[in-house]
Amino acid sequence: MDYADTYNHILERLITHAREGTTDSAEGITRMPADYYLDPDIWQREVDNIFKRLPLLLGFTSELRDSGQYKAVKIMGVPVIMIRSKDGRVRAFLNACRHRGAAVLKEGTGKCARMVCPYHAWAYNDRGVLVTVNDAPKFGDLDTEGEGLTELPCAERAGLIFVGLTPGYETDIDAYLGGMLPELESLEIAHWELCATQSLTTANWKMAHDGYVDGYHIASLHPTTIGAFSQSNVLTFDAWGPHQRIGFAHHNILDVAEQAPADRTLNDGLTVIRTVFPNISLAVQHGSGGLISQLYPGPEPGTSITIQNFLAPKKPETPEEEQMLKMQTDMLYAVVRDEDYATVDTVQEGLQSGAIPDVLFGKSELGNQRLHDWIAHYSEDQPDPANRPNP
Ligand code: FES
Ligand SMILES: [Fe+2]
Repeated sequence: MDYADTYNHILERLITHAREGTTDSAEGITRMPADYYLDPDIWQREVDNIFKRLPLLLGFTSELRDSGQYKAVKIMGVPVIMIRSKDGRVRAFLNACRHRGAAVLKEGTGKCARMVCPYHAWAYNDRGVLVTVNDAPKFGDLDTEGEGLTELPCAERAGLIFVGLTPGYETDIDAYLGGMLPELESLEIAHWELCATQSLTTANWKMAHDGYVDGYHIASLHPTTIGAFSQSNVLTFDAWGPHQRIGFAHHNILDVAEQAPADRTLNDGLTVIRTVFPNISLAVQHGSGGLISQLYPGPEPGTSITIQNFLAPKKPETPEEEQMLKMQTDMLYAVVRDEDYATVDTVQEGLQSGAIPDVLFGKSELGNQRLHDWIAHYSEDQPDPANRPNP
């Protein structure tokens, strides 16, 4: 799919904003009580009703290209296996053996013809069916049908593997992603390679997430890094349901404006950041890849875990390319740890101390305002489709 028209559309809107000193924005200021970030009951509802129900990005096509390739992860305490079956589909299962519950596969990636539990060697095929009970006559009569691994909802779209953590709680992934799906498909992530991953910890997951959709802090918090090329508060905002696409103007945007649209190179003059609700930020660009971050609640409300994934059209092949990748990943790690999360940690301390009764989101913090509308919606026990927030 050709993205040039969409790119030019975002660019023209940013050019107008840059010339006129404006930005896409909300109608007014909103306030969220400090407790919204601190209350263990609110946090538990987010874990149960959002993270345990909605499709979560847990893997990449790049990791599971061949049949038998698997990835085993533990997400918020839930052990999950994703495996590509011989029919080409990726399926997901709880990584808990039907015999006595051991983890069938060690966390990480690998390839196997059958999944064999290390404890007593029961074996499952690539569809999670129990195919071998070790020393079966001595085990006793067991109808193995229906004794397979517990399957989880799983879908592969646009190079991304989504898994629901509650068995039987199916979400129509195409309807859920809506207009974000063609956006993601246009990036051609399915052809990219996962080149590196690293993880960080910080405060509450919503405090961390706030930093990914806020274009207000770029000049003040990142003056020598992201702020060296990107402006603060010159933004476009588009959304499909809870998923957002935010365009950030670069300092050179008015130079790019002087070029005829046909002479522009995709991504010149702007950065586009996309989010997939509830916890994914895609700082990736057409043709070059970039950073996809997964944010998860940690074991308690004041903690969260971020996994940074670096994807590119191809893996580094030469020592120079390896070194370039390492420089990029080190830089992004340092920016997020030393600039964003070091500050987010002080937000946690500030709110916990009771220093302020609520936090404020200005008109340009539209992405944050919408994010919290959608968190409120999906935190409901029964989100009412008739009451979906505005996108
Ligand atoms: S727990 Fe897996 S074979 Fe016994
Ligand atoms: Fe930031």
